[in-house]
Amino acid sequence: MDKNPKKDSRATEKDSLVADILLLKDRALDVAAEGITIADMRLPDQPLIYINEGFERLTGYSAKSMFGKNCRFLQGADTDQDTVRQISEALANGTECTVEILNQTKDGRPFWNRLSLTPVTDSLGEVTHFIGVQSDITKRKNAETALREANQKLERANRHMKRNLDAAAKIQRSLLPDSAPVSDDVMFSWVFQPCDELAGDTLNVFPLDEKRFAVYMIDVSGHGVSASLLSVTLSHWFSRHFQISGNSGGEPQTDSISFSSPLAVAEELNRQFQMDAENAQYFTMCFGVIDVDAGEFRYVAAGCPPVIVAGKEGNSDIRVVEGFPVGIVDQPEYSENVIKLDSGDRVFLYTDGVTEAEDRNDNPYGTELMAQNILKNGDRELEDCLGAVMESVTAWRGDRSLDDDVSILAFELT
Ligand SMILES: Cc1cc2nc3c(=O)[nH]c(=O)nc-3n(C[C@H](O)[C@H](O)[C@H](O)COP(=O)(O)O)c2cc1C
Repeated sequence: MDKNPKKDSRATEKDSLVADILLLKDRALDVAAEGITIADMRLPDQPLIYINEGFERLTGYSAKSMFGKNCRFLQGADTDQDTVRQISEALANGTECTVEILNQTKDGRPFWNRLSLTPVTDSLGEVTHFIGVQSDITKRKNAETALREANQKLERANRHMKRNLDAAAKIQRSLLPDSAPVSDDVMFSWVFQPCDELAGDTLNVFPLDEKRFAVYMIDVSGHGVSASLLSVTLSHWFSRHFQISGNSGGEPQTDSISFSSPLAVAEELNRQFQMDAENAQYFTMCFGVIDVDAGEFRYVAAGCPPVIVAGKEGNSDIRVVEGFPVGIVDQPEYSENVIKLDSGDRVFLYTDGVTEAEDRNDNPYGTELMAQNILKNGDRELEDCLGAVMESVTAWRGDRSLDDDVSILAFELT
């Protein structure tokens, strides 16, 4: 048969094109950053029959030395055996799998290998080969480990700090009165709700004698740890001076302050707790003495919110008294104020965390609403009335969290 030279030359062109494409594929596989390997699954121990340059670069082994071997030689003593089992199962089932496995290079350097294995089937659907793609993910793994360790460190530090804060909060709570002084003439009730573990608010009641009681409500500027340190110091200051003066309102002794004189107390505190430039801390305070026989509450208001007086008859009075917080100026010129009280009258001292609690539209709860709620619950026991006021503050805030400490101290002449 005569040869067709045209047909022959077309066949040669096609062959050379195919050869070019195969060469190109080879080059492409070699320049790939990943390792690419092919194992023959029909031969014993599934040896490698193709290894690209990327794999050589990754492992340090030459393709020649690896040819015909099973790839498990990359594994070392620290390689996770569960991962190896996972690979075995996928190979046995002829399914795809991707694992992250610890391998080592020829010179023994460990590296993290993201290994993807994909089965290749023949025309009968039999798995004849597996293609493996290896990527070095050591940097990512190391970063993950470093992050995990840093997180664990942080968690440990956080737990440690939380334990300390809880212990400090316990100490702070122990400084609050655990029960009110028992008296036939005056009933006391209070709420104390720190916005953080530790509060800048503090309050207390001291019996000066059977018929007189000193009360204070303090709010240190700011809140949290630094505010709480000053508030604890102040609680101690009051307890210490109360003890020194022999639990009585008698004349001051050396190093003692007479709690009978609200003015003396406020002036002494202002002298001892002058704000310094470093911490810029000051505090608002209402300190007063309830005198049952005189039927009065004599007090000094040092920058505190107005005192609310709720009369038995359902009337209320909001006593606004201007005054510098303690520690701001040298000569604050405090003065004593007197509220005349009848049996059944109630007095409420509180911190601005109550009246400045905001609703979702940033409207403050306010003194007026507080006074209204006090009156609305005037028929209830003092403690229940206080509970109802707190409920109304909480309802006002809605889902907004507390951003200041909330404290109320109330008393009623019985
Ligand atoms: C194509 C292919 C590439 C593989 N590449 C790796 C590899 O880079 N690193 C590795 O630890 N194992 C690799 N393996 C898995 C091991 O060769 C072996 O199959 C695995 O260790 C499970 O078998 P064994 O329990 O008999 O060791 C590869 C497997 C195949 C089929």
